[in-house]
Amino acid sequence: EEMTPEERAFQERVDRGEKIEPKEWMPEGYRKTLIRQMGQHAHSEIVGQLPEGNWITRAPTLERKAILLAKVQDEAGHGLYLYSAAETLGVSRDELMEKLHSGAMKYSSIFNYPTLTWADMGAVGWLVDGAAIMNQVPLQRTSYGPYSRAMIRICKEESFHQRQGYAIMMKMAQGTPEQKEMAQDALNRFWYPSLMMFGPSDKDSVHSAQSMAWKIKMNTNDELRQKFVDETVPQATYLGLTVPDETLTWNEERGHYDFAEPDWDEFFEVIKGNGPCNEERLGARREAWDKGAWFRDGLTAYAEKAAARRAA
Ligand code: ACO
Repeated sequence: EEMTPEERAFQERVDRGEKIEPKEWMPEGYRKTLIRQMGQHAHSEIVGQLPEGNWITRAPTLERKAILLAKVQDEAGHGLYLYSAAETLGVSRDELMEKLHSGAMKYSSIFNYPTLTWADMGAVGWLVDGAAIMNQVPLQRTSYGPYSRAMIRICKEESFHQRQGYAIMMKMAQGTPEQKEMAQDALNRFWYPSLMMFGPSDKDSVHSAQSMAWKIKMNTNDELRQKFVDETVPQATYLGLTVPDETLTWNEERGHYDFAEPDWDEFFEVIKGNGPCNEERLGARREAWDKGAWFRDGLTAYAEKAAARRAA
């Protein structure tokens, strides 16, 4: 398709590395893609509180509880920065919420897996936040100004999350044989779902080409997945744990690990809503929304009264 002069000028700005700001002209597809991606990202942060929130009351020590609580609160903050950033594109937060609750918008597949043991808090921090950082560090250079600025702060906090997860894994892996076994079991269950976080393989990624041209995405799904495997395998070795992939081998020629792809049928089932915890997660979000109605109503009533007082 031929670009219009406006579209061409826009593409040239993106190519030059300029940031696009909220009130500036942008193609409708750019706006829509950003709302989809940033909205999904925000939803992931919010839904992502649930699997870890599950363990706050059962953390093994007061220190671990305080750390986990802070981390889960950070995720709420990330969701809020991202909703605010998405609102600059002309979508309301209520609309985004409605689409999450109706299933019209997605959130990351990873949060549809259960957290069964304390070691899962380690695996989630290490692998899930590790994968999130791998994807989000390049997004600090994304073309949309508010998104890129939100990413800078989020990445700082995510790297603390990743370290706290790895610290839990070290403790468990160096603990009793039972603790080490729990750490191994958590790695076994979270490895492939973490690889799925990067999205389908490039040949099945419908949005990558256009999103990369617009610098909404900076890398392909497979590039980031490979980078994650390359960085994570030595970390597993250091823990004395085994990545659950018998085909995993260092490829001298490529300078990368060769590894087994996740089960893509499972991935597509999970993003269609049929994962192990989809119903539970969405149910919890809908319930929180409904139970928060009195608070939103109160806030609105107060804002209206305050405005009326100012006008009088
Ligand atoms: N979970 C759920 N849905 C996914 C996932 C995933 N892990 N990966 C891809 N999809 C969906 C896409 O949203 C798209 O569906 P849609 O058209 O209905 O929106 C479809 O699968 C095809 O995938 P792609 O064409 O590759 O989609 P896209 O270009 O959006 O790439 C990616 C997916 C890499 C996740 C991208 O959206 C992205 O970088 N998002 C920002 C980061 C993010 O959202 N992180 C959240 C998890 S980390 C955390 O919050 C702790």
